[in-house]
Amino acid sequence: MKMLTILVAVIVLVDLADSTKKSVPAAFKAANLSKVLNITIKNLKLMTVTYPDPPKKVFLGNNLTQTDTSTEPTYDFDYRTNRYYALLMTDPDVPSPSISLPGEFFHWFVGNIPGNRSSSGEDILNYFPPVPPPGTKPHRYTFLLYRQRKKMNFSDGSLLGIDLTNRLMRRASVLAKELNLGDPIAGNFFYKGFDVPVVHGALNVV
Ligand SMILES: *[C@@H]1O[C@H](CO)[C@@H](O)[C@H](O)[C@H]1NC(C)=O
Ligand SMILES: *[C@@H]1O[C@H](CO)[C@@H](O)[C@H](O)[C@H]1NC(C)=O
Ligand SMILES: *[C@@H]1O[C@H](CO)[C@@H](O)[C@H](O)[C@H]1NC(C)=O
Ligand SMILES: *[C@@H]1O[C@H](CO)[C@@H](O)[C@H](O)[C@H]1NC(C)=O
Ligand SMILES: *[C@@H]1O[C@H](CO)[C@@H](O)[C@H](O)[C@H]1NC(C)=O
Repeated sequence: MKMLTILVAVIVLVDLADSTKKSVPAAFKAANLSKVLNITIKNLKLMTVTYPDPPKKVFLGNNLTQTDTSTEPTYDFDYRTNRYYALLMTDPDVPSPSISLPGEFFHWFVGNIPGNRSSSGEDILNYFPPVPPPGTKPHRYTFLLYRQRKKMNFSDGSLLGIDLTNRLMRRASVLAKELNLGDPIAGNFFYKGFDVPVVHGALNVV
């Protein structure tokens, strides 16, 4: 009886691990993100992204609110210690999923994340909280993790000849190509529509 319980538990655990592994490309595909972002998702793994205070995990298309997402989340991955990584958070749905501009809005870009976690990487574009305008359907806020070929000097924008300071009308696929990052290796995303943030409430009073 005990053996059977253990066996069932093991099977369930194996199954769960398997389903989270499999569900990343499937979830990206179901949300049309592979098409919209023009990215290869076949081997995409799950990147853990957690908003603090109170902790709220991003999970493959869950719904988050203004309060959940107002401060920068933490992120994790099964990094290799001798490598550097880059994290991009992008919104392909500006200004709305139905009237999309020919480009994305970059919410966050962190480079030189050391695989040994000795530091948190360099913010190339600071975290910009998602604030979709009223009347739009929920946007797909997408996190993509890339493995850098080597440590990069992002402060030398002119040397690379790439504009790293602009957020609007950008494309993850183009940036990845410009920086020679290859295909994303991990990802995650959430949906968020317009909701009345605390600051709007305060402004309405004024
Ligand atoms: C994905 O795209 C298809 C075809 O363009 C569309 O019918 C479907 O509603 C889209 N799904 C989502 C979740 O955007
Ligand atoms: C999608 O990416 C491929 C390969 O990187 C590129 O050749 C193609 O032009 C891109 N398509 C669009 C619509 O950007
Ligand atoms: C997210 O909210 C939408 C309604 O805006 C709902 O249809 C959908 O089921 C929700 N998704 C999840 C994962 O709760
Ligand atoms: C982590 O990697 C950085 C950069 O490669 C290196 O300077 C540092 O010594 C490493 N730290 C540990 C604890 O391995
Ligand atoms: C990065 O590039 C800047 C601008 O060219 C330069 O001042 C700086 O020394 C470089 N940093 C490193 C670590 O090479």
